Amino acid sequence: MAESLKRRGAIVRAPENFLSGDQIAAVGAGRRDFLRQAMIAAAAVGAGAAMPARAAEASAGDPDILNLPPWSTTLGKPVASTPYGSPSKFETNLVRRESPGLTRVGASSVSFAPLQGLFGIITPSGLHFERHHQGWQDVDPARHRLMINGLVGTPKVYTMDDLMRLPSVSRIHFIECGANSGMEWGNVAVPTVQYTHGMLSCSEFTGVPLSVLLEDCGYERSDGHYVLAEGADGSSMTRTIPIDNALDDVIVAYGQNGEMLRPENGYPLRLVVPGVQGVSWVKWLRRIEIGDQPYGTKDESLHYVDLMPDGTHRQYSSIQEAKSVITTPSGGQQLVGQGYYTVTGLAWSGRGAIRRVDVSADGGRNWRRAKLETPVLSKALTRFNIDWEWDGAPAILQSRAIDDTGYVQPTMPQLRAVRGSKSIYHNNAIQSWAVAPSGEVSNVQVG
Ligand code: MTE
Repeated sequence: MAESLKRRGAIVRAPENFLSGDQIAAVGAGRRDFLRQAMIAAAAVGAGAAMPARAAEASAGDPDILNLPPWSTTLGKPVASTPYGSPSKFETNLVRRESPGLTRVGASSVSFAPLQGLFGIITPSGLHFERHHQGWQDVDPARHRLMINGLVGTPKVYTMDDLMRLPSVSRIHFIECGANSGMEWGNVAVPTVQYTHGMLSCSEFTGVPLSVLLEDCGYERSDGHYVLAEGADGSSMTRTIPIDNALDDVIVAYGQNGEMLRPENGYPLRLVVPGVQGVSWVKWLRRIEIGDQPYGTKDESLHYVDLMPDGTHRQYSSIQEAKSVITTPSGGQQLVGQGYYTVTGLAWSGRGAIRRVDVSADGGRNWRRAKLETPVLSKALTRFNIDWEWDGAPAILQSRAIDDTGYVQPTMPQLRAVRGSKSIYHNNAIQSWAVAPSGEVSNVQVG
């Protein structure tokens, strides 16, 4: 039984659900009929005794379904015919997407990760969100250098070969752009979780702890208290990082998910600043300078500041506070009938590990504790899930994260009461998905 229930739950992840909301509107009711058929077929596979009747029903639409398919009767393709493997041709809808009209120039834009179609906590490197201020470059590693200067005993310039000889660490961390969910400050703006929360990814990063490099350059704790990180792209991306962060868990990374970084994510070198907003994760990292005060660069005094209700700007609010989102069912998806579903999603905190996630199906009146899937790591995505029996009535699904500092993810009204509604950055409010009696799931704000 449990197996068949799981299969049914999986049906909400059918290919249609990988489309953006606008595309779903375009495919219309015919496609939904197809999904219902698919649900019947899937239930047949998982439902044991019910299978013969269900299989016959399913085969009514496809007379071929009971015959052996070609992949069971023909020779498959040889090894290494795809030297670098790609996803199945049946998975082509699961891609990064730009939000139409968000930016005028593709080189200074963002592509969102398709959170609704991912499992576990690791984002496949090819689906990692992208945020570039001046486009991405495929930098020649042989010509790339990292300079460390400023208030250090011995300024140095490292080649990639130099860096890869040094002691390394591999750690799993999330990266979230400070602008993630930024379109939703005023009201509902985008239809799917890909656009509400897709400036979020999680990888295993490998590289040299920044503390090792600073020690190598003769840095003494009394020397300077701020690190400036600078990228090699045309945007002159520069960010200040307090030395305590830098010495704690910051990595000068070249590896991502077991291979070199992808060019879009900073190949061959990027800064990994666990728990801190994505803009500080400087890509194509070429310089680290130690100073005795914050640098106040354009990327921290003009951009990435929080506009408060009284008109002032909050600066250096870099830590990503605890946040969570249900990824299935989520906006643009379609439930395929009453009954059992696994509600699943992601939770994360820039201050540590997730302690607990609660889920509500009635817009926050009642909460149940979700199961956290292992691993539950500090400053990494945590996958949660919970059983849900849908009775066909309207429902509002929400998740609420609590991290190991005791911080509780706020509701949208609670956040607006402090931050107003004109900001762009650091919206970590509880996300609401409305389920209509038709099974359609949409983005709503409550309260
Ligand atoms: N570093 C450089 N050099 N140039 C950039 O445009 N964008 C920043 C940061 N580092 C950026 C950069 C921003 S705003 C974010 S959110 C993250 O990179 C995005 O990282 P990703 O593209 O690997 O997802």
